[in-house]
Amino acid sequence: MQVDVVIIGAGAAGLMCAATAGYRGRRVLVLDHARKAGQKILMSGGGRCNFTNLNSTPNQFLSANPRFCISALKRYPPQAFLELVERHGIEHVEKAAGQLFCAGKAKDIVDMLLTECEWAGAEVQMKTAVKALEAIDGGYRVTTADDTISADSVVIATGGLSIPTMGATPFGYEIARQFGLEVLPTRAGLVPFTLHPDLKERLAPLAGMSIPVAATAGGMRFEEPLLFTHRGLSGPAMLQISSFWQPGEPLVIDLLPGRDVAADLTERRAARPQGTVLQYLDDHLPRRLGRVLCDWHGWSRPLQEYPQSGLQAVAEALQQWTIHPAGTEGYRTAEVTLGGVDTRELSSQTMEAQRQPGLFFIGEVVDVTGHLGGHNFQWAWASGVAAGQSV
Ligand code: FDA
Repeated sequence: MQVDVVIIGAGAAGLMCAATAGYRGRRVLVLDHARKAGQKILMSGGGRCNFTNLNSTPNQFLSANPRFCISALKRYPPQAFLELVERHGIEHVEKAAGQLFCAGKAKDIVDMLLTECEWAGAEVQMKTAVKALEAIDGGYRVTTADDTISADSVVIATGGLSIPTMGATPFGYEIARQFGLEVLPTRAGLVPFTLHPDLKERLAPLAGMSIPVAATAGGMRFEEPLLFTHRGLSGPAMLQISSFWQPGEPLVIDLLPGRDVAADLTERRAARPQGTVLQYLDDHLPRRLGRVLCDWHGWSRPLQEYPQSGLQAVAEALQQWTIHPAGTEGYRTAEVTLGGVDTRELSSQTMEAQRQPGLFFIGEVVDVTGHLGGHNFQWAWASGVAAGQSV
């Protein structure tokens, strides 16, 4: 079989690339080993797919080369994807500032992409594992269990390592290495933290509670909700900061962001000397959390018995709560994989490997990782379009 372009991976980036190349008149074949296309799209955003972020800028991406993503994101901005969504009549809602979700189901986005592929004449073949990829004269040979396909270009869109049960594999990294391209170390990103047994036990009564916090690690700070879970700490604040946290480093949490707790307590002590820390916490935090904190730290005495240094210590415990996480949940539940194919190997205009003409890498397999909030899909769309316009 002979086609112009083989795309390996029928996820967000691969399908976007397929439609873009198909509309240019290229004969496109998408191969994927999974049963269904776009499985991560289906499970994303709690089943509603946070498909882009209107405020997406290159600042919301991590990469060893932070400038790499600029060109593709500029040429295919969030508004372009929103127009596509609206052309297909998909209802959407803005949840937090700029975060766009489907009003219905994430499946609407997969259906839209598959429809686009169909209109563009791009064929999508599922349940097809790729056995080998070789460079041949003027192109590539792709071997599957049933077929040998020749193509001018091959696009690797096999994503990262997160959620192996959904078909994630290291295939893309292996292909990069096969062709002598550098792959940067990978690790789980946008992932919940696990805790050491003593802290886990202490926080167990709080499972299911969500509170707004500010989390700091690795020089970054996020003000978002924290969710206490049976396994550890999750919620947007934890997922965001996890991408910046390195094992062994502390994680600092401000349980009362925006407040000056030391000043609050000093004022209270003057106004209500018999008052307690618990009464103060009851005004600002869920009761259960206040109780756990007071029991833990032994904050039971009236405020008048606290010297200024004592109030300062209470404030520090609440606003610079320093945790040493046991680790993260890892790829099992991570939303993304940090690291990957080194962007220095690729053209930022086309995603083509500089040293291997005709071989392209797009989406999450590349060392470009977005913050939480629709940025990762925006990278998948933008890098998919960049390659689709060039293959
Ligand atoms: P993607 O993972 O989408 O696709 C890769 C494809 O390659 C898959 O179809 C896979 O089967 C196939 N494949 C892998 N190995 C193969 C092999 N060896 N042979 C053949 N095929 C192979 N992002 C966001 O912006 N908003 C959101 O709401 C969410 N929510 C979210 C929730 C959860 C639970 C997860 C796990 C992730 C998110 N994300 C997200 C992240 C987002 O899903 C992710 O960044 C994109 O799907 C990446 O798109 P890709 O096309 O690169 O990979």
